Amino acid sequence: MKLIDVEGFMLGEKILEVKDAILEMEVRDSDIWICSFPRSGTTWMQETVWMIANNLNYDKANNEILHIRSPFLEMHQVQNWNRIKATFPDSFKGIGTSVDLTDKSSDPRVIKTHLPWHLLPKQMQTGEKKPKIVFVYRDVRDVCVSYYHHLKVFENAFGGFDEYAETFMQGKVLYGPYWEYLSGFEDRPNMLTVRYEDLRKDLKSELSRLGKFLGKRLDGEALDQLADHLSFEAMKKNPAVNQEKLLGSLKPGQDFIRKGIVGGYREVFSLELNAKFNRWIAQNENKN
Ligand code: A3P
Repeated sequence: MKLIDVEGFMLGEKILEVKDAILEMEVRDSDIWICSFPRSGTTWMQETVWMIANNLNYDKANNEILHIRSPFLEMHQVQNWNRIKATFPDSFKGIGTSVDLTDKSSDPRVIKTHLPWHLLPKQMQTGEKKPKIVFVYRDVRDVCVSYYHHLKVFENAFGGFDEYAETFMQGKVLYGPYWEYLSGFEDRPNMLTVRYEDLRKDLKSELSRLGKFLGKRLDGEALDQLADHLSFEAMKKNPAVNQEKLLGSLKPGQDFIRKGIVGGYREVFSLELNAKFNRWIAQNENKN
């Protein structure tokens, strides 16, 4: 994917075909927006929020792929958008762009986006519409490792991890720069911030917190069953969420739902890179 600088952020060049439509789109107060930097646990949160918002409709969840139930707003910019539409002709009948898909989705819409705050619909930015926003973030070192593995699947001439980590720190990766992205999502009354590490540590507590935010009661057996459905092992083998149908033929080891661990970066970072990365974090995290 060819990246271009759009108002300070690196995006796929095809974003220009939908950028204005996104800025001008109609937001609904009933919407739930999942906002995150890629590889922070977005898909996990999408399935979580969709399940809660749809009163734990397992039947639909297991029979319709997540990205049709929960549109990825700027998916139009990805290389395989047309292939995806062709793979699911019934679901994408009459759909032009991914913004179109979002517009035509029924309430409550659970919308995924990695776009920075100032490229989101104006109605959200001005506060004219106040949808619920779930903002997900993760240890940036794990984000970087996860992103490296993910991109390697698509890009051929891809260098080693250290080289990628430099590019990541320089902000020259899709949706970068990282800290500038993060700083757009300051606390707002209609926003809930969720850490990947907290989901990993105590999924049920985080599910209860999300339930409260979304106005749904979640406890007892229903909570246990939902936690099972959302476990790493269950999601990894669930074709409705693991993106195997969206991404096409992946080779072994190229799974979208890959390792799902906290602190995996330790096995990948050299001592030198670790020191450099930590300096970069220290210089930037206080600004946020
Ligand atoms: P890893 O590559 O570290 O395994 P996103 O959806 O934002 O692209 O995030 C992808 C990351 O979330 C991947 O991280 C993936 O494995 C992890 N993930 C997805 N579902 C998960 C789950 N149910 N439990 C834990 N991690 C999950």
